[in-house]
Amino acid sequence: GSAVKFFLDTADIAEIKTGIAWGVVDGVTTNPSLYAKVGGSYEELLKEICGLTKGPVSAEVIADDADGMVSEGRAFAKIASNIVVKVPMTTAGLEAISRFKAEGIKTNCTLIFTANQGLMAAKAGASLISPFVGRLDDISEDGMTVIRELAEIFQHYDDLEHCEILAASIRHPRHVTESALCGAHVATMPLKVLEQMTKHPLTDKGIAQFKADWSKAKGGK
Ligand code: E4P
Repeated sequence: GSAVKFFLDTADIAEIKTGIAWGVVDGVTTNPSLYAKVGGSYEELLKEICGLTKGPVSAEVIADDADGMVSEGRAFAKIASNIVVKVPMTTAGLEAISRFKAEGIKTNCTLIFTANQGLMAAKAGASLISPFVGRLDDISEDGMTVIRELAEIFQHYDDLEHCEILAASIRHPRHVTESALCGAHVATMPLKVLEQMTKHPLTDKGIAQFKADWSKAKGGK
């Protein structure tokens, strides 16, 4: 398939602009906690983010009943055509996902911590499923196992092709490498991790050496 996609996991406009300028950002994920860090109107923020990227922009619902989720999600979907409604993994969430699917509204099922939760969301019709790798690692489980199991399960069934595995709660560059090795379709990460992925001490050392040699040669003339 196509190369692994990178989403920025932030609601910070300046960070999103920076990542997009690097040419490697395929979309954005937000959540209530990321939104709380920047504040203002969530709708205005989403509109601005949707104007910065053509890729999917996840907007998370707050309601915990299916009717509430559906009405919040419909409002988000009116903001821009690239909005994806983020819905938590609950039975109400599943109902909302299947109703959104019938209406042609894309969804990202969030707070997934097991392969079964991911399978349920995919079957209900989610376009993205978000296993939280870092939060599992935080409690001494192996978050990457969920990504690996889902990627393997997806290989067995053609009818899960509407759904992409989005490795979320990414904490460091190694999580990104491993997600790609497992075959996750997308990894969403803070700008810090995206930047860390460009770094290697030998790169910095090499640049300094090339500069030093260049000015030595120029100075010698
Ligand atoms: C998922 O899309 C979430 O926004 C995010 O990845 C959660 O990450 P955290 O565990 O670092 O809060």
